[in-house]
Amino acid sequence: MGGKDAAGSDTYTSANPARLDEAVARVGLADAGTFAAACRTAKDAQREWAKVPAPVRGRVIASIGRLVEANAESLAALVTEEIGKPYAEALGEVREIVDTCDFFLGEGRRLYGQTVPSEMPDKNLFTFRNPVGVATVITAGNFPVAVPSWYLVPALLCGNAVVWKPAEYAAASAHAMYRLFAAAGLPDGVLNVVFADGAQTFEGLERALTEGTVDKIGFTGSSEVGRKIGELAGRHLQSPCLELGGKNPMVIMPDADLDLAVEGALFAGFGTAGQRCTSLGTAIVHESVHQDFTDRFVRALKAARVGDPREDVLAGPLLDRKFADRYEEYLTWIQPHHRVVSGPTGRITEDNPRDGFTGEGGLYYHPVVVDGVRPDDRIFLEETFGPIVGVTTFSTMAEAVELANRPGYGLSSSIYTTNPKHAFAFREGVSAGMVSINNSTSGAEAHLPFGGNGKSGNGSRQSGMWVLDQFTRWQSMNWDHSGRLQKAQMDVAEITPDHGFRL
Ligand code: UN1
Repeated sequence: MGGKDAAGSDTYTSANPARLDEAVARVGLADAGTFAAACRTAKDAQREWAKVPAPVRGRVIASIGRLVEANAESLAALVTEEIGKPYAEALGEVREIVDTCDFFLGEGRRLYGQTVPSEMPDKNLFTFRNPVGVATVITAGNFPVAVPSWYLVPALLCGNAVVWKPAEYAAASAHAMYRLFAAAGLPDGVLNVVFADGAQTFEGLERALTEGTVDKIGFTGSSEVGRKIGELAGRHLQSPCLELGGKNPMVIMPDADLDLAVEGALFAGFGTAGQRCTSLGTAIVHESVHQDFTDRFVRALKAARVGDPREDVLAGPLLDRKFADRYEEYLTWIQPHHRVVSGPTGRITEDNPRDGFTGEGGLYYHPVVVDGVRPDDRIFLEETFGPIVGVTTFSTMAEAVELANRPGYGLSSSIYTTNPKHAFAFREGVSAGMVSINNSTSGAEAHLPFGGNGKSGNGSRQSGMWVLDQFTRWQSMNWDHSGRLQKAQMDVAEITPDHGFRL
């Protein structure tokens, strides 16, 4: 912090999930006191950073983008090594940082306020966007560099200082990202990285909120932890930016191009081994095409490659042991009335093999498709982070929308149809913050609003111009140069109409 390393008391080893005996990084974990100290450091540094003209801050963001671009392959390789994301997807993730920088470097010259007409003469009204102050950003490790950039880049551009608590199982990727940001010339203390466990982070955050050194919290992670962070922030009268889980539906209409839908479902369900917050939860398939879709989906899944994420595979290992343990629990939610149509389940081993599998010794799991899912099943209602997709059926459009909304999340959604009426009816009815038509549930672009409703978030939006409302606060200013006190609403000229006039 403040350009210096602080020693942590406990150490954590971030292992390669594709080869568990390989350590990718060892980091010291900070305690609550260190977390709170980082927030004080940020608070001190923020005042000067806010004075740097926004276009100059925009140039720093431009440099970050260029540095990330120049280091794209090594950063992507590190992401693959540390969390097992297939290399092509890791490169895409790195590209998303560059895209985010490209958008916000221009915002440095825009960050517009307004001039607003006053109701009185010789009085001018203005609005300004002020930085909020210090933003603490707590992120998951499934997108260890792209999702953090959605917070860090706009927060810094807007003149905030940041304390970033990355996922410890993605520590090497986070550290590399920090070094790239620092190389762009950020002054000491403006960006601080703290590795800490959940409990110490929460306590440190509570202390910092009490000390008044945190003005905004950004959190990407589970709905359960998001709820706790929301409660804590609420007690301090803050509204956090929460990006939480999803149970993202994909509706397949009878008029859908089924091959396209299968391709979308495969990437949405099993890309990043199903560990995106935008991953496909349940395919909601019209009863008339259910059998056909499911057969094609299973065929495509069987032909897909699972294995070493450095190779051209659909899915690599799970992110980390704790995700593998949790995923094994989700598998126990499969009930006797379900039909596992994809083949074996559980860890891929010599005794439980998969055709064409190329991995060795990692947290690799069979991708699973569960047919016959019912609306009251746990597997239908709750997020199952990992390579498992449910299939259920519907008969009317209204039923499809009701099923899509039923789990109460609201991050992403998708519909496959060739009928624009169905597309618009779905858009209007679905509770999700994002809707894809004839596309996967994943695949947000860096300049579209990203965020969820219900159990997926508190309505906050990241990315593009929408995230500016997270990292700035509007200030209004009125300037009266009439030389007298003109009282709003009272000293206002009135033009009297003839309300009784008729033609
Ligand atoms: C997440 O999983 O937290 O659109 C974000 C997508 C990715 C982002 C996912 N670009 O799926």
